Amino acid sequence: MSTERTQVLLSQEETVRQYEFIEKAALHVQRLKEELGRQPTCCVTTFGCQMNARDSEKLTGILERAGYQLIEEENADFVIFNTCTVRDNANQRVYGRLGVLNGYKRKNPNMKIALCGCMMQEPTVIEKIKESYRFVDLIFGTHNIYKFAELLNSTFENKGMVIDIWKDTDKIVEDLPVERKYPFKSGINIMFGCNNFCSYCIVPYVRGRERSRRPEDIIREITNLVADGVVEVMLLGQNVNSYGKNLEEPMTFAELLRKIEKIEGLERIRFMTSHPKDLSDELIQVMKESKKICRHLHLPLQSGSTRILKDMNRRYTKEQYLALAEKIRREIPDMAITTDIIVGFPGETPEDVEETIDVVRKVNYDNAFTFIYSKRTGTPAAAMENQVSEDVVKAGFDKVLKVVQDTAREQVTKYRGMVMDALVEEVNEHDTTLLTGRLSNNTLVHFPGDASLIGKIVNVSLDECHGFYYMGHMVD
Ligand code: 5AD
Ligand code: SF4
Repeated sequence: MSTERTQVLLSQEETVRQYEFIEKAALHVQRLKEELGRQPTCCVTTFGCQMNARDSEKLTGILERAGYQLIEEENADFVIFNTCTVRDNANQRVYGRLGVLNGYKRKNPNMKIALCGCMMQEPTVIEKIKESYRFVDLIFGTHNIYKFAELLNSTFENKGMVIDIWKDTDKIVEDLPVERKYPFKSGINIMFGCNNFCSYCIVPYVRGRERSRRPEDIIREITNLVADGVVEVMLLGQNVNSYGKNLEEPMTFAELLRKIEKIEGLERIRFMTSHPKDLSDELIQVMKESKKICRHLHLPLQSGSTRILKDMNRRYTKEQYLALAEKIRREIPDMAITTDIIVGFPGETPEDVEETIDVVRKVNYDNAFTFIYSKRTGTPAAAMENQVSEDVVKAGFDKVLKVVQDTAREQVTKYRGMVMDALVEEVNEHDTTLLTGRLSNNTLVHFPGDASLIGKIVNVSLDECHGFYYMGHMVD
């Protein structure tokens, strides 16, 4: 039997096992309910990216099946932090919030606190928690999240802190329960991990090597989601452009998109994130021809300086990036392009920052997330000697941010007066007579309408541009 086939069978066995643990955990939760005289509550807090948001939906699915009621407040009977470690400020926020949880737990001895996600894959973090945060009940990492039901159960059956961290895995377990945040849209993991080792980035160390899900599993999941009311999917992977390379029958990302496009009832397809070095002409062609792929491409630049890009191990030059962006603009003129930029990478000079600004001006991004470089222990960049001083970084950051904001505002304003389709996502928080919809190009638009339209795609005239969003009205 092929290894992939064996893996599928093992995965199915594991799914059955985990469902058994949900049943077991449910008995404990039932007992707790009787003791408390009310339904136990849970809270799932997500830090970081869309991958984590999707993982949190899986955690929620299991907690709800076990009998917890999901609430927003962190003063719940079971609280789990799904953590991020891509930049140090994410870590610091987790430690700060843990202090608050400790206060809650003192008042509620039944409370259980769990930590999972990328930050837990770092040995120094585990040491710190073992030493200074003894009140935490459960810690697990990114590779064994599928075991959450089993681990949840063990918090009822063990005394003390349960810690289960794996270094890596080649396992993908399918078909566990998921509780979606939105009924009409959903993230879908198409691959896990990253093989790129950009020199600043901790992701390859905490998420492991690239593994693609089998196309038939992805298609089945999306087909089921569509039957359940989903109209928009976001395909998730650290580098979706290298999807399928390690499958038994290799397949390109463009081929996967063609298959997904055929799913009836599915209206919109998004994906994230694309690495510029792997974005093929085939993919541009598929995007161009597609009726469903949204007009939004997130194409992280990181730096506009070829010298810095080389040290970052990004494997493209400034010129190659610009040529790619130009090709996309030429082939698909209505495609919104967004990006990520890092300022303050070791050795970066004000001249390098100017190169980044030059790219921002030339590409005209619809939006750009600008980050201050954060030193991540264990990455090659952390060991580089020429770290940039804080005030130089801050000056460069402010400069880039200003240009990013100006060009993005100008770019987004270009859609004024157009009629575009918007997926209605929610009633506006500040003014309940308004609905908030998302355009294919990812820009938000607010317009008068009734809550019954949530989840529907409607035509909206884009009347006034307010920087990064529009005010509009519905048209037939
Ligand atoms: N410092 C700052 N930003 C980083 N990113 C990844 N690693 C770091 C780091 N060490 C940014 C990159 C990436 C985004 C998800 O986070 O821009 O695209
Ligand atoms: Fe990090 Fe680079 Fe992988 Fe993105 S492609 S997750 S920045 S190593």
